[in-house]
Amino acid sequence: MSGPVELFEVGPRDGLQNEPGEISVAGKVRLIDCLSRAGFRRIEVASFVSPKWVPQMANSGEVLAGITRAPGISYAALTPNMRGLEAALEAGADEVAIFGSASEGFSKANINASIAESLKRFAPVAEAARAASLPVRGYVSCVVECPYDGPVAPSETARVVAALRDMGVYEVSLGDTIGQGTPEAVDAMLSAVLEEMPAPKLAGHFHDTSGRALENIEVALGRGLRVFDTAIGGLGGCPYAPGAKGNVATGKVAARLKALGYETGLDMAVLEEAEVIAQSLRAEGAQHG
Ligand code: HMG
Ligand code: MG
Repeated sequence: MSGPVELFEVGPRDGLQNEPGEISVAGKVRLIDCLSRAGFRRIEVASFVSPKWVPQMANSGEVLAGITRAPGISYAALTPNMRGLEAALEAGADEVAIFGSASEGFSKANINASIAESLKRFAPVAEAARAASLPVRGYVSCVVECPYDGPVAPSETARVVAALRDMGVYEVSLGDTIGQGTPEAVDAMLSAVLEEMPAPKLAGHFHDTSGRALENIEVALGRGLRVFDTAIGGLGGCPYAPGAKGNVATGKVAARLKALGYETGLDMAVLEEAEVIAQSLRAEGAQHG
């Protein structure tokens, strides 16, 4: 097996959003500026959500203003509604993401809406983003397992993927939000999802709670996926998904891909520098928590 595989770095958003103590703008900027030297094409750095729901992301505008943008990198932000999109546009995000769920329980807990309500909310966000020439990515959470509803049927995940596709998202990232997916469940889910969206427009987003993220990535590679979301140093989790550990660690995935013969184009020495910064931010958060 060979060929390019892209890692989409989500540590500064999916990772840090879960830290209980406040992390300074300067600390986040230091991490992102380091990651900008590692060879990523996309880095998720911000989230324009309610600060009452996720206080850690409240300084997202300042973070986008503070980073040194490297040419060729898309700095991405989450936007749950029109208000979030307006803030992302003002802050100069290069792309945005709408984020839904394949399970009702998580949809309610995470964005206070049923799946149907959330899709209705996302449609104008996607339309306005496209009108502003901003690429829109879609996320589907709980693609195999939900912390509230249990196992999720592949057809449910495929249905939400299709709805996001119809809104014109350029890629859908499939989230094993609580890292409970088995390779068998992930394979069955992908089989259903691929009926709706081709592999080049899908990404795998695996949390590593039960230590099976690498196996699941290999299953997804076998199904033709070539983009994976990862977080530097395995930072993270989701505040509305009890038990969700960090995203699978960027360095761990890069090393496995290399061993399998794929190229990520990432500079491992820079990743190690970024891991040290990520650890220090964790310590900073713990001090203020
Ligand atoms: P709500 O309470 O139903 O909505 O929340 P609301 O419209 O009543 O707003 C509540 C308050 O938030 C109001 O303030 C709004 O003004 C304010 P108040 O009047 O009470 O002072 N507000 C906002 N403030 C800033 N920016 C905004 C915004 N919108 C409203 N955009 C809402 C609905 C969607 C806003 C809320 O539920 C929310 O922000 N949820 C986000 C939760 C979140 O960020 N979760 C983590 C990201 S998802 C994830 O990690 C999974 C992923 O990684 C994939 C995977 O692993 O599966 C992507
Ligand atoms: Mg996540």
